[in-house]
Amino acid sequence: MNPKYGKVWLVGAGPGDADLVSVKAVKLLKQADVVLYDYLVNKELLEYCSASCERLYVGKMKDKHTYPQDDLNELLVHYAGKGQNIVRLKGGDPFVFGRGVEEILTLIENGIDYEVVPGITSGVAVPAYMGIPVTARHVASSVTFVTGHPAKGKNSVDWQALAKASDTLVVYMGVSNAQRIANELIIGGKKNETPVALIRWGTYPQQEMLTATLETIGEAMADRGFMPPALMVIGEVVNFSNQLKPIIQSIKPQEISHV
Ligand SMILES: C[S@@+](CC[C@H](N)C(=O)[O-])C[C@H]1O[C@@H](n2cnc3c(N)ncnc32)[C@H](O)[C@@H]1O
Repeated sequence: MNPKYGKVWLVGAGPGDADLVSVKAVKLLKQADVVLYDYLVNKELLEYCSASCERLYVGKMKDKHTYPQDDLNELLVHYAGKGQNIVRLKGGDPFVFGRGVEEILTLIENGIDYEVVPGITSGVAVPAYMGIPVTARHVASSVTFVTGHPAKGKNSVDWQALAKASDTLVVYMGVSNAQRIANELIIGGKKNETPVALIRWGTYPQQEMLTATLETIGEAMADRGFMPPALMVIGEVVNFSNQLKPIIQSIKPQEISHV
């Protein structure tokens, strides 16, 4: 490691609700010189930063990248070169569809010290807030976390194989391909009436859920004008949302700043 460089912490910000962040993440935010944060990070978390901390939005929205990944990697190297403590704050967990490893490889190439602080991934917390457990005895013994938007030309998802292999599927970034994914799963052997939930802004006060079946999800989305960011949960576990109560955020932002 180059001793003149600062250190980068890749920190998971959790799924949205600002209380679902680790104590370690809070400690690091308090001592950071710079925080580079993403689109899905709850901005309330930035209230933990000191007055002198530089806060830089580097988020990516679909088709609207503030910073292309290469530029972002360079930015990390730039700030580390100034000898600063950098928190790279990423939605959910940095290693779950978060491109965290790409940023770490850049840091390694440049001899920059780093540490990863895991976060609660949206794939578990967002369904839980809507009364959906991703596994349940006698209903779902297996769960797969999968992207609906794999890197171009590489490592594409075999939906038909997954239809047989996994009881619950939790699909990140799947909104724009939802009906295509559903059709592939039906071809692969899942029943037409398999329940599907699409959950938008999960764990935030404005969270909303749309439920349908594999056969009807595309039409239901069109009727409601359903937009990303959302997570899709497919499987019998979705039916628990009729019995379990949803979790609603209760702590207000001003209470957080005193912690
Ligand atoms: C680039 S991935 C990042 C996932 C993140 N690293 C994690 O562990 O949750 C972004 C996708 O995660 C899902 N997602 C993240 N936060 C969400 C939330 N609060 N509500 C619904 N979906 C969310 C959506 O599918 C979104 O398009």
